Amino acid sequence: MRKVPRTRTCKPNRTVSIIGTGSYAPEHILTNADLARMVDTSDEWITSRTGIKERRIAGPKEFTSHMAAKAAQVAMEQCHIRPEEIDMIVVATVSPDTFFPATACHVQRLLGAKNAACFDVSAACSGFLYGLEIGQQFIANHTYNTILVIGADRLSSLVNWKDRNTCVLFGDGAGAAILRSRDESYGVITTYMGSDGSYGDILSMPGGGCALPVTSENCEQHLNTIQMNGKETFKLAVTSMQNAALRALQQANLEFSDIKCIIPHQANIRIIEALADRLKVPMEKIYVNLDRFGNTSAAAVAMALDEASRKGCFEIGDYILMVVFGGGLTWASSVIQW
Ligand SMILES: CC(C)(COP(=O)(O)OP(=O)(O)OC[C@H]1O[C@@H](n2cnc3c(N)ncnc32)[C@H](O)[C@@H]1OP(=O)(O)O)[C@@H](O)C(=O)NCCC(=O)NCCS
Repeated sequence: MRKVPRTRTCKPNRTVSIIGTGSYAPEHILTNADLARMVDTSDEWITSRTGIKERRIAGPKEFTSHMAAKAAQVAMEQCHIRPEEIDMIVVATVSPDTFFPATACHVQRLLGAKNAACFDVSAACSGFLYGLEIGQQFIANHTYNTILVIGADRLSSLVNWKDRNTCVLFGDGAGAAILRSRDESYGVITTYMGSDGSYGDILSMPGGGCALPVTSENCEQHLNTIQMNGKETFKLAVTSMQNAALRALQQANLEFSDIKCIIPHQANIRIIEALADRLKVPMEKIYVNLDRFGNTSAAAVAMALDEASRKGCFEIGDYILMVVFGGGLTWASSVIQW
């Protein structure tokens, strides 16, 4: 009888750590005062309703892959990883350079990571934690050793700059993490992911795909830009992140008092405050940088993780909780021992 080749080992699962992080934000700063000159809004309205003061906007020739590769280079430098060592690149994004090739393939070319398998993940603002879990599984089961996970979005190209309901909220950026198995720390303890496609309409970009292709008529109706029911999105963001945070803690068998730092999706300070209130955790435990970057979608939690670690908000051995929410609907949470 023909023998079936064995491509997997039967070794027990490995633990998986984040051994390096990096982030990148474009140079150009768009302030609330700048926006007040573009649409009928004010610094006072944006600050009081969202907590956002400014956001970064990519240059005309600066694409998602460029920002992603820059964040990746910072992460690779931190942990001394050479491009050829990377076995897989996962880019979480809803603003790819092209439908295909995947943005991850563009990043591969920019980095010279010629040994990597590359693909994108579409889970909107939750994408980085989805990518983290995918990478984690491939290392845990010994398929790959070194995986680059990136959350990168250039939402400035998907925003209707005449719609004050949405254009004040978003910004551009990228955050990256390198995953490897490491003996000294437990690493990614648990990740919980969930979705509810029945709420797809409350936050979406309806045009541009095969359902509503790019035609001048569809573009005139702004169907190829972000459409959002703000109030519904707000409520669902709080509930789904609350549930996801509790679920991850339960899976990790930990209490909030065990967690050193909570890094939530950076959409709106009022969403984060409502989450803190429901979870009964002090705001001091929660990392916030949305005042400077706005909502950078899949990049947000990855950029915040990189910033928080460089600022020394947690040390090796500390427990971190990341919790995210995005269009789809999608949500996810991860408990990590740093
Ligand atoms: C969008 C959001 C900030 C609006 O805040 P809100 O307190 O719910 O405000 P409302 O929707 O009640 O709008 C109140 C008024 O402000 C107006 N408004 C909306 N955007 C405005 C702006 N940028 N400047 C001034 N006024 C604005 C509305 O038109 C509305 O006017 P009306 O009462 O005359 O119709 C808030 O709902 C939100 O953050 N939702 C979640 C969005 C999000 O996070 N999306 C991404 C998730 S990943």
